[in-house]
Order: sequence, then structure tokens, then C-alpha cells
Amino acid sequence: MEYQDELKARIQHVNAVLRDYMPKETGFQKTLLAAMNYSVDAGGKRMRPIMMECAYQMYGGKDAQAAPFMAAMEMIHTSSLIHDDLPALDNDDMRRGRKTTHKMYGEAMAILAGDALLNYAYETASRAFDTARDAQLVRAAKAFRILTEKSGIHGMLGGQSCDVECEGRALTERMVEFINLHKTAALIEASLMIGAVLAGAPEEEVRILESIGNKTGLAFQIRDDILDVTGSEMELGKPIGSDVRNKKTTFVSLFGIPAGKARIELLSSQALAEFDRLSVKHEFLRMLLEELATRRR
Ligand code: IPE
Ligand code: IPE
Ligand code: MG
Ligand code: MG
Ligand code: MG
Repeated sequence: MEYQDELKARIQHVNAVLRDYMPKETGFQKTLLAAMNYSVDAGGKRMRPIMMECAYQMYGGKDAQAAPFMAAMEMIHTSSLIHDDLPALDNDDMRRGRKTTHKMYGEAMAILAGDALLNYAYETASRAFDTARDAQLVRAAKAFRILTEKSGIHGMLGGQSCDVECEGRALTERMVEFINLHKTAALIEASLMIGAVLAGAPEEEVRILESIGNKTGLAFQIRDDILDVTGSEMELGKPIGSDVRNKKTTFVSLFGIPAGKARIELLSSQALAEFDRLSVKHEFLRMLLEELATRRR
């Protein structure tokens, strides 16, 4: 299958998995449930669950064991976007081609929807324990630990807290890198690691995948920062100029766009070299990692 066709098929599959797990909008709390579904339904690249499933398949995973974790990862990512767009954080009005959740449902409901999605993600991932037995149960427990650690204070949320605290400040490259590694790379690392862990990959390979996710995630955020300057709202589905408006110090504001592109290329080629050292291959995942370096959305 051609890369673009396979990408489309994989996105559709992730959407089907999400439909299986997202809550029905009934009960007195249905506004909250609608606000949760609103942003998940809006779409997005679905890159993290796709990476997770590829890593699972790469190590021989064939069944639907990864599905609850794939859904959970996209829920956590989406919850981070709902909160990231709030007036108290980046204050953005558009996301995934739609009005942001707080613009649509109000700030209180957006705060609750972000919290609810994060919590429901763990509820969803824990469903993997219902069917897993023996070795699978141990793998699911390890995967759960990775999911929680990489999302929390030592991962995405830790990065987001520094990102907002440092607005308007001149930062060192080291600090910018800390922010990017945590707010963005952590969930990409987790996606690759969880897929591999669920399929029973050896520990050394999981570490290599963490390192690939680390470099891919750093490059992904620098690309995001470049697109915040050179992209279009039409293509991105979110406003450009958000970083300048919020006085964020980014790799691009520090060193400029050409240096940003050079850094992405270096990180991407290092990640691909590590990928090629793994004991197993996955043509589509390799292509996805390669494509991210020059993505336009
Ligand atoms: C946006 O992530 C937030 C960052 C970490 C830069 P994505 O670019 O993956 O957003 P969606 O899921 O495609 O909307
Ligand atoms: C966001 O970084 C990272 C997370 C949401 C965790 P940005 O604030 O740059 O993401 P966008 O540009 O709003 O998608
Ligand atoms: Mg932000
Ligand atoms: Mg933002
Ligand atoms: Mg951005």
C-alpha cells in the first residue's frame, strides 16, 4: 500500500477505536460528555495512537490488546490541547479546524472536559486488565505505568507548567529543551514504548524506542514552532502567531527558522539511525517518522 493510503486507513482505524471507547452523551452530566467528545471528534493527525499500534505490530502484536491504550493516549493528548488553549494558558480560539472547547462550551466546562478526558483515559487504559492474563497482565501493568508517568509531573504536565511559567522570560537553550522534551516528547516516547511493551519487546529495545521518541518529539515541537510562524491557519486548523503573542521563548525565537530546520534534520536523522538499529523493521512507521520532519500540519 502507498504511504498516504496506509496513513488514511490507520487514521480511520484510530477513529473507530475512539468511537468504541468515547462515552455516550447521556445523563445529567451530558454537557460534560459532549464537551469531551467535541474535541476528540474534531480529529487531528492521530499520530500518537498510530505510532503505538505500529510499535505493537513491529514486535509481533496481532490482536486488539493495544486498543484501550491507543484510545487513552489520544484522550490524554486531546485533554492537553483543551487545557493548552484555555485563556489562562495560550488563549487560542481555534483547534483542529473548530472553535476551541472553551469557546464552544465556556471555560468552566472546558476545564472539566480536560480533567474528565485525562481521568477517563486511565479508566479506558485500565480496561486492558479485564481481558489480559499472565504475561499480558504484567505487560499491561508496565504500559499503564509508562502512560501515567509520561503524562504527569515528570512528563507532559511538568513541561506545560514550565512553558506557562516562563512566558515573557528569556530562556536558555537548555530550558527550552527541557520544556519541549516534557510537554511534547514525553507522550511520543510513551506511545512507542507502550506499543512495544504490550507486544513483549525486550527492555533494551524499549529504551531505544524511548530515545527515538525523545528525538522525534523534540523535532516535532521545533516544527510546531516553525509552523506557528510560517504555517497557515487553514492547513493547521489552529491560529498562527500564538507563540509571539504569548511571548514564548522557543527554539525558533532563540535561533531562527533555518537553525530550527537544521536541528530538526539532525534529530530526525539520529532517530532514523536508531530505528534502523532495532532488531525488527516497520516500513510504514519509518516513513511516518521521516515525514514528520517536513510536515505542513
Ligand atoms: C499539537 O499536537 C501539540 C503539540 C504537542 C505540538 P499535534 O500537532 O499532534 O495535534 P493534533 O493531534 O494533530 O491536533
Ligand atoms: C503544546 O505546545 C504542547 C501540549 C499541548 C502539551 P503548543 O502550545 O505549542 O501547542 P499548540 O501549538 O498550541 O498546538
Ligand atoms: Mg502551549
Ligand atoms: Mg498552544
Ligand atoms: Mg505551538
